[in-house]
Amino acid sequence: MSATSGGKVLVCGGAGYIGSHMAAMLAENGYEVTVFDNLSTGHREALKWGDFFEGDLRNPDDLKKVFHSKDFDAVFHFSGLIVVSESVERPDIYYDNNVTGTLNLLDEMKRSGVDRFVFSSTAAVYGNPVSDIINEEHPLAPLNPYGRSKLYIEEILRDYHRAFGLNSVCLRYFNAAGARPDGIIGEAHDPETHLIPNILLSTLREGRELKVFGDSYATPDGTCVRDYVHVQDLCSAHLLALEYLNTNSGAEVFNLGSGSGFSVLEVIKAASEVTGIDIQYTIESARSGDSARLVADSSKAREALKWRPRYDDVKTIIETAWRWHKNPTF
Ligand code: UFG
Repeated sequence: MSATSGGKVLVCGGAGYIGSHMAAMLAENGYEVTVFDNLSTGHREALKWGDFFEGDLRNPDDLKKVFHSKDFDAVFHFSGLIVVSESVERPDIYYDNNVTGTLNLLDEMKRSGVDRFVFSSTAAVYGNPVSDIINEEHPLAPLNPYGRSKLYIEEILRDYHRAFGLNSVCLRYFNAAGARPDGIIGEAHDPETHLIPNILLSTLREGRELKVFGDSYATPDGTCVRDYVHVQDLCSAHLLALEYLNTNSGAEVFNLGSGSGFSVLEVIKAASEVTGIDIQYTIESARSGDSARLVADSSKAREALKWRPRYDDVKTIIETAWRWHKNPTF
């Protein structure tokens, strides 16, 4: 199977933000897509590509059924709960969904002889950065159950490679943002916690105030610095990861970020320029667990996967998000 000749792929979490963009890109690149999703946080309206199978990773019978329906060549796994604060309050739910659910999926892959797996990991595995730019060698010290749930799976994948020959790529996302440039799908979480959607929604929804969490961090303007990476660039890295697994065995990890850091206030300024609206905000106390600065060194992905992000400036990323938020499809 090559990235251009297609193959049968299962996209777990394909009704969610990144998963739906991935389903679209896979279909456009000739893959036969099956989406598996429990629709707990995903959107039925985002299911525009491939077959849909409604099911839950925590229910092994659901997995058995979907794996009996087709001979998959590879699995992409986007079905994660992602809200850090919620993971602190309900670690049981996070470990059940993100760890037990993934173990069920891996067991079913093993039983079905599917040996290629692309996993959505996160910069949260690094915890508080000890260097300005973070590469994959940075110490792993997640600060919350969400980050730990992802790190446990990374470690399990190394064990599954050694024991069962399962080949995997873990992609550690920094801050995913933006929407498909054609505006047919975009980013919508409930509740919305992410900066760029919250900035845009504050201009579109009556009474919705934008809060900036903390302005006394050790950064140039006191607000947190993040590395925003376009969702389409994340998806192109996943396609390349699948191609990589066609010719490489192992259990690899790659950072995915743009390598540029933007503060919260810089993002608000860029959004004001994109929207033509003078965006108002209030400064609130810092959110617990936010690191001052998270910026990726993605040179490993650029070299090994030949990944070339296309949306390398934050204004273009915001422009695509703005197009969708003005005309949301869900
Ligand atoms: N922020 C605000 N106001 C908001 C929303 C966010 O000021 O309304 C700030 C945050 O405090 C942070 C920055 O904007 O400084 C970015 O916040 P996001 O919530 O957009 O993103 P995070 O960096 O907190 O989270 C991202 C992913 C998570 C993942 C985390 C790992 O979206 O899924 O990185 O560090 F867990």
